[in-house]
Amino acid sequence: MSTGSILILPGDGIGPEVMAQVRRIIDWYGAKRGLSFDVSEDLVGGAAYDAHGVPLADETMARAQEADAVLLGAVGGPKYDDLDFSVKPERGLLRLRKEMDLYANLRPAQCFDALADFSSLKRDVVAGLDIMIVRELTSGVYFGEPRGIFTEGNERVGINTQRYTESEIARVARSAFELARKRGGKVCSMEKANVMESGILWREVVQKVHDEEYPDVELSHMYADAGAMQLTRWPKQFDVIVTDNLFGDLLSDVAAMLTGSLGMLPSASLGAPAANGRPKALYEPVHGSAPDIAGQGKANPIACILSFAMALRYSFDEGVEADRLEAAVEKVLADGVRTPDLLGEEGTDPVTTEGMGDAILKALDASL
Ligand code: NAD
Ligand code: IPM
Ligand code: MN
Repeated sequence: MSTGSILILPGDGIGPEVMAQVRRIIDWYGAKRGLSFDVSEDLVGGAAYDAHGVPLADETMARAQEADAVLLGAVGGPKYDDLDFSVKPERGLLRLRKEMDLYANLRPAQCFDALADFSSLKRDVVAGLDIMIVRELTSGVYFGEPRGIFTEGNERVGINTQRYTESEIARVARSAFELARKRGGKVCSMEKANVMESGILWREVVQKVHDEEYPDVELSHMYADAGAMQLTRWPKQFDVIVTDNLFGDLLSDVAAMLTGSLGMLPSASLGAPAANGRPKALYEPVHGSAPDIAGQGKANPIACILSFAMALRYSFDEGVEADRLEAAVEKVLADGVRTPDLLGEEGTDPVTTEGMGDAILKALDASL
């Protein structure tokens, strides 16, 4: 019996390069752990635009809706910078998130001990760091109406609208509280209730969900700008952070650098819990298509590989196998295997993207 279906969307730039390593790991799980995934592949982003003139074909959208899990590499690149906004590669990813209603974007930031000296912050500040940012992903200023570029009098005006309904806030707050219960028992909610009405509503609703349903979880509130400062001052004060779409985008890039490299950070984007226990789900690294290093074998595949580990945990209920894969990554880093992004000034002898894949597969073999 198939363990489940996976739709792979490698995308652009380093997306296909890092995804090639994930394919090898999926095959390993088939051969060595009896997890037989039904894997198919399709186009997204610039690659889809080149083939179909749109960044996500309707057929691909339909296949994503059917899949137990979607794995995405990255989209975008300079080649597509001048395209009309409606067909830009990023629109393909945003359509997937919106139409699959993937409202809870889990972005863990964990500092592996072997990389604690590599962060731009002091070892003390980041060693042992393990936080989870829950970013609302289907609403807010990314999708609010009205939006557009309009003419007013003799000049143009660009408009985007921050908009949140109570139910949109409540459901992502629940995701954060549920996660906190399984982790350190703390949630910090971030908004700007001092300047934005949507922030005032956000704070009220998160507090209400807490008081009525999760009084056992410790809840605090912080303005998002102060949160950015605290994330770099003393990030270990946090367990789960819940925040809106735009603040979550920014804060998760800040958190990424605490771990040493953007090339380390995975993510899971989840929809509502489904009757079969499998939420709609898309897994992707937090980083983009890295045009500056694309095609050179320099990309770190770990963020994409750890995204697959999240798929094992959240879509396929294979927590033990997810632990195994995370431990293999940790082992390889402890052994000093490094892609170029993980080397400090003094570092020498990096491995290629494929070399990192080889090392992780070897560590997986050794785990049996
Ligand atoms: P980026 O994440 O692609 O790159 C930022 C920097 O980090 C670059 O120097 C890059 O070389 C480095 N980097 C990123 N991932 C790496 C990895 N796995 N290994 C080693 N180094 C890595 O962000 P950007 O340059 O701002 O954006 C480039 C393009 O990617 C844009 O078109 C942007 O819209 C798109 N983008 C896509 C996604 C996504 O698909 N989810 C996310 C962010 C940006
Ligand atoms: C991310 C990216 C995307 C976002 C872009 C590529 C649409 O930056 O996933 O963090 O802004 O959400
Ligand atoms: Mn981002």
